[in-house]
Amino acid sequence: MHLASVNGKISTPETAVIPVCDEGLLRGDGAFEVISIHNGKPFALEDHYARLQRTSDGLKLPFDLESLRNEVTAILRRIEPRNMLLRLVVTRGGNRIAITESVPPTPAKLRVTAITHTPSELLDGLKTLSYAGNMLAVRIAHERGFDEALFVTVSGEILEGPTWSFFWGKDGVLYTPSLAEHPILRSITRERIMDMVDVTESACTLCELASADEAFLASTTREVIPIVCVDEINFPQAPGPLTKEAQSALNAHIQRELAALESVSA
Ligand SMILES: Cc1ncc(COP(=O)(O)O)c(C=O)c1O
Repeated sequence: MHLASVNGKISTPETAVIPVCDEGLLRGDGAFEVISIHNGKPFALEDHYARLQRTSDGLKLPFDLESLRNEVTAILRRIEPRNMLLRLVVTRGGNRIAITESVPPTPAKLRVTAITHTPSELLDGLKTLSYAGNMLAVRIAHERGFDEALFVTVSGEILEGPTWSFFWGKDGVLYTPSLAEHPILRSITRERIMDMVDVTESACTLCELASADEAFLASTTREVIPIVCVDEINFPQAPGPLTKEAQSALNAHIQRELAALESVSA
């Protein structure tokens, strides 16, 4: 059974309520995070709190982080020890929401299509509730017969997916778009991968991607998933060696961090 907390009141997600006049709902004015829960334990929770705080600072949206922390602790105490997601939302209407969710199934390899996107400079780096464009991009990808969308600029420079970061490998070197030079999210999974394996930040156009050997996406909910193609650019060896290396390094890192959590709480 899943749970929801609204300002500390715990119920089932179906019965949890916020006022319909909340501008988080009416205008997408709010911040959110999605945390992965492994066997009942959260991974990288502090990183998610930090990004939630950065987003809310960027939106000039005050919220009570200490109360949210207590509410998350209360939810974590009540959940079953299995894998799931925890979504945190803070809204302009002053509501703090925490909801547990099932991990959506994802194919072992993904087919991706490029979609031109011009992210709002105002919201650069912020994980706000204004994700309708991101969700629309996935729907368009499905209509085209692909699994996922890859955002590219009007000049064809690769950015990221609607809910994931992009990596590609060429001649034994792993690359990802540069955070300093591109309007992409500071992905926690991207940072963890960069801490563990050699990654070069670089720009890449779709034309340049055609000579890459492999590619993968990375995110909290999906970790590392090999990409089989970006439109007509195929990566027949998916998963390639750099993808496999990132996959196993991330997996080992998650297990180590969760084990350390357990030894602190034991
Ligand atoms: C636009 C975007 N890029 C990248 C990511 C991956 O970020 P993380 O690794 O922190 O989940 C997300 C996650 O939702 C996202 O929304």
